[in-house]
Amino acid sequence: MTDVPSNIKRPIVLIVDDDRHTREGLQRALQRHYAVRLAEDANRALEQLADNEVDVLLSDLRMPGTDGLGLLRRAQAQHPATICILLTAYGSVETAVEAMKQGAYDFLTKPVNLDHLDLLIERALRSRNMEERNRDLQAQLDSKYGMESLIGDSPAMQRVFDTIRQAAPTAATVLIQGPSGTGKELVAQAIHRLSPRAKGPFVAVHCAALAPTLLESELFGHEKGAFTGAAARRKGRFELADGGTLLLDEISEIDTATQVKLLRVLEERRFERVGGNEPIEVDIRLIAATNRDLQARVAEGKFREDLFFRLNVVDIHLPPLAERTGDIPMLCDHFLRECAARNGKPVPGITPDAVNLLTAYPWPGNVRELRNTIEKMVVLGSGDKLTARDVPAAIREIGREHLPVARGAPVAGGLLADTEREAIFAALRQQKGNRSRAALDLGISRRTLHRKLNEYRTQGILPPAE
Ligand SMILES: Nc1ncnc2c1ncn2[C@@H]1O[C@H](COP(=O)(O)OP(=O)(O)OP(=O)(O)O)[C@@H](O)[C@H]1O
Ligand SMILES: [Mg+2]
Repeated sequence: MTDVPSNIKRPIVLIVDDDRHTREGLQRALQRHYAVRLAEDANRALEQLADNEVDVLLSDLRMPGTDGLGLLRRAQAQHPATICILLTAYGSVETAVEAMKQGAYDFLTKPVNLDHLDLLIERALRSRNMEERNRDLQAQLDSKYGMESLIGDSPAMQRVFDTIRQAAPTAATVLIQGPSGTGKELVAQAIHRLSPRAKGPFVAVHCAALAPTLLESELFGHEKGAFTGAAARRKGRFELADGGTLLLDEISEIDTATQVKLLRVLEERRFERVGGNEPIEVDIRLIAATNRDLQARVAEGKFREDLFFRLNVVDIHLPPLAERTGDIPMLCDHFLRECAARNGKPVPGITPDAVNLLTAYPWPGNVRELRNTIEKMVVLGSGDKLTARDVPAAIREIGREHLPVARGAPVAGGLLADTEREAIFAALRQQKGNRSRAALDLGISRRTLHRKLNEYRTQGILPPAE
């Protein structure tokens, strides 16, 4: 290792030993590459750890007072990023194992081989940097995949995804509007997951469920004795969401007094608990959701216009499912897998007829209703393929009435069939043609896979078997 130029921040090594000669000997050996600090016992070491960003803690095991293991435990708890290496003259394997169990990076016996120590520190620092880099990469990956729970390839949903991607990294308030069951809460969660606050809390409050007085204390908390029944001080959702995201669901339903208070919080970023006067500051990202037309509520005088503007910095509209029927086959496929997994069943196939019926039905309950329907079909369905007969009667009847004129011709089943075929081919490629393993990956029986492949042969998609 060459000398480190002085303008680069050198890693800090803290040497802890009750013997002055050992401390100074190690210091001489290490000071060429590191900024060295010294401590003669565990307490002084903890002070140094608190004051400096110590990269490596090099501590003797046997010391008067708190010993090396005790110091290691406290250092690990308070400064988890610090690398700990222990030294001892009494090199017993048991102590070494104990130290490693407690999170020590390594263990050296005295007299210390200085070349070995130098290499050890260098390696430890390198592996810590690598871990940090991996964490960063993982965070980037998470952000790429944070939206995987939201399904849809209709132009409307693609626009929603674009807005989520743009808004998530910012602190802007988002207003999500759409009828019940269109995925508003899911969108709010995706924004949180893709934001720099992802590691912080995600807190949702359903504003319509609470009476006005309760809502205020739910949001802002209360002091002990603030009202009858307030037996102890309680934190509100604003405080609980500190450092994270707060979703105010069904925002249209909050009463005028709470609207005023909310507006003030958004303007000043601070509030008081009910019955308290100590101002509390929190760092939250606010998302509001509603299944009502909030602008219409403003026009009716039921919702404050200034609050509406505060909330509506970024607006996301989720259209009813009936206005994006193109999403239905993909959603069916997604829910089939999800429900099968939850119910411990193999993933069933679904016939184009059944998908056509489901696509034609107008879904007043939107995606939630579709999901519940698929769940029912998976649980009740027999056989490994769901057909039009497995579609609940009411949906089948209404679906039939809405079917496009070219009845019987494949309408939307194509996409699902394509998805299925691609999944099968991908699994076979992955397993290098091994059908048993591919079937296992796909969650279907080997017999079903065999049948599918025969179907592809009769359809001319695959060449006939030799
Ligand atoms: N695009 C989507 N992809 C996958 N699942 C979805 C999608 N949209 C909705 N869902 C599912 O539908 C159900 C309802 O979604 P969510 O609770 O987000 O709706 P909502 O708009 O908040 O409804 P409400 O107004 O009734 O609160 C959930 O189970 C959710 O997982
Ligand atoms: Mg909701």
